[in-house]
Amino acid sequence: MEVVPLGSAAEIAAVAADVVEAVVRRKPAAVLGLATGSTPLPAYRELIRRHEAGLGPSYAAVTCFNLDEYVGLPEPEIHEQSYRATIARELTDGLGIRPDQVNGPDPSPDSLPTAGERYEALIARAGGVDVQFLGIGSDGHLAFNEPGSSLASRTRIKTLTAQTRKDNARFFGSPDEVPSHVLTQGLGTILEARHLLLIATGEGKADAVAAFAEGPVTASCPASVLQLHPHVTVLLDPAAAAGLNRLAYYREVYAAKPAWQGL
Ligand code: GLP
Repeated sequence: MEVVPLGSAAEIAAVAADVVEAVVRRKPAAVLGLATGSTPLPAYRELIRRHEAGLGPSYAAVTCFNLDEYVGLPEPEIHEQSYRATIARELTDGLGIRPDQVNGPDPSPDSLPTAGERYEALIARAGGVDVQFLGIGSDGHLAFNEPGSSLASRTRIKTLTAQTRKDNARFFGSPDEVPSHVLTQGLGTILEARHLLLIATGEGKADAVAAFAEGPVTASCPASVLQLHPHVTVLLDPAAAAGLNRLAYYREVYAAKPAWQGL
């Protein structure tokens, strides 16, 4: 795991955009894994800014897979808080990526029992995810894999914790309006992406960051499973990095990073 302490969310956005653009330049038909939440938004805006300025690569041939989706929203295809709508609004529309290039777990009630395996098959058919955006929940959750999730889990239905519903209430009227169920890629699914790019910003994430990056690998902190992946980049602002014991070492490593190595 490469922990990269940076100076600000803006600096993180630029570095994250560089990573994604490099993947798409190298492989125009790249498979991008997309996350929701507030954290990736500056990076998404930076990608769109560069695209609109004619500086970015073409996204005409990419395929995207969303990490997760709410279950039980009225009219999930168009509900503004569905993750399908959110990803379109915050990123893919701005990059000229067509809706048919973007996949998400299917929350339609009639086909829920098979939604997980169908989504896994779609990801496999696309050849797997090249670069996966990730955020982290304040309780250490990854996508919607709440504490206690199997470290080998696959895409499936999950029940949100009260804490996550409280955290996500800002997007709805109140915690009661946040759906209690979701479909989420499993931790085992996420581990199969070739490069994982986790972003965490703000003091509210400091404990979760210290726990997953420097604590034990445990289902009680789902993001700690990233310690088992060979290519993880963790981009942190000063507030999110504040609880790390090895912070000085991570800074030293990044400052001395060979230019040829990249992230
Ligand atoms: C949600 C999403 C996660 C995201 C997390 C943190 O629960 N399912 O993918 O990482 O929220 O969100 P934020 O970035 O808004 O703190």
